[in-house]
Amino acid sequence: MTQKPRRRVAVLGATGVAGQQFLVSLADHPWFELCVLAASERSAGRPYREAITSPGGALRWGCDEPLPERFASQPVIDARSLDPRSVDLVFSAVESDAARPLEEFFAPHVPVVSTASAFRYEDDVPILVPGVNHEHASLVKRQQRERGWRGYVVPIPNCTTTGLVMALAPLARAYGVRSVVMTSLQALSGAGRSPGVAALDILDNVIPFIPKEEEKVQRETAKILGSLDGDRIAPLEIAVSATCTRVNVRDGHILSVSAGLGRSASLGEIAETLRAFGREFADLGLPSAPPELLHVTEDPYRPQPRVDRRLHDGMTTVVGRLRQDPVLPNGVKLVLLSHNTKMGAAKGATLVAEYLVHRGLA
Ligand SMILES: NC(=O)c1ccc[n+]([C@@H]2O[C@H](COP(=O)([O-])OP(=O)(O)OC[C@H]3O[C@@H](n4cnc5c(N)ncnc54)[C@H](OP(=O)(O)O)[C@@H]3O)[C@@H](O)[C@H]2O)c1
Repeated sequence: MTQKPRRRVAVLGATGVAGQQFLVSLADHPWFELCVLAASERSAGRPYREAITSPGGALRWGCDEPLPERFASQPVIDARSLDPRSVDLVFSAVESDAARPLEEFFAPHVPVVSTASAFRYEDDVPILVPGVNHEHASLVKRQQRERGWRGYVVPIPNCTTTGLVMALAPLARAYGVRSVVMTSLQALSGAGRSPGVAALDILDNVIPFIPKEEEKVQRETAKILGSLDGDRIAPLEIAVSATCTRVNVRDGHILSVSAGLGRSASLGEIAETLRAFGREFADLGLPSAPPELLHVTEDPYRPQPRVDRRLHDGMTTVVGRLRQDPVLPNGVKLVLLSHNTKMGAAKGATLVAEYLVHRGLA
């Protein structure tokens, strides 16, 4: 692969859970140089390490990897004060309400790759998942044409949708998928720092509701698995019934999924279909791409968050417990694990940006 010039990038929301993961993904990146750490006015003007230190002196760094030393003393700026022309690409890791005006401010000038939901449901905006629907990327040209922007917004999905579509995409292509019933057991880091989940609420407990999550999974799944028809995405006709719960796990969302397929297939065939998925995408050789997007395990006690979430640096969805589902027509059921802050947030968004560069769109 030819060497690309390094692009100057900014992270908005650099102090948050997803933002911290961006620092790790971009610290030694061959194509992107992280020049700007931006957050709210609460953090602005302080060196990064100080901005993530509580008034009592606790460093609130949430990644397994150490805080990259080169960013520790870099000042955090107020995202609103950044000149959009001073960078080549912006990563947005800000809560949705705050993300909307910020992304609208930057996208007329530069590409914005976002973990937030602010733009996900707009007609001219693709929700990109590496290996699943990257061909939807061409929709950004419609955004540029119709909105008069030089840049664009490309969101990644909600972190629960990411694992679900990763497993459903190969099944949809090979057999068709008509219906899905899914229950998630979602990690605490998925709730972010503010407000996050209080320790006393989750210790010794499961919380059976995550506001807006089930609607997001249902809507995003149909859009991502849909087909690009000229300048529009025709959503897949699929019934998705989601129940989303919060559990006492730090990182890694588990999903229990039952899918009704368009035709019957043996479990052996299905396992092979899942194993073969994403090879062409991996062959692109993008810096953050894992060697396998899906890993199928035969161990009946896997996947487990603590044991399996670090596979290929959290970029591989682990699928296990493949069984026939006797309830849905041509039914199959499985359990999957997807790392919510790696593939489901920062490193997944980094991989999307790499693909946009590869396509000549960034
Ligand atoms: N956590 C995950 O696993 C995950 C996965 C996928 C997608 N996401 C999405 O990523 C986004 C960030 O989530 P998170 O979990 O990282 O949340 P978080 O830990 O609460 O962090 C929020 C970040 O947004 C910044 N911020 C808030 N208001 C702002 C404003 N007006 N202007 C600029 N920056 C502002 C905060 O800066 P201050 O520190 O200065 O307040 C902080 O850096 C959300 O849209 C979320 O849905 C998260």
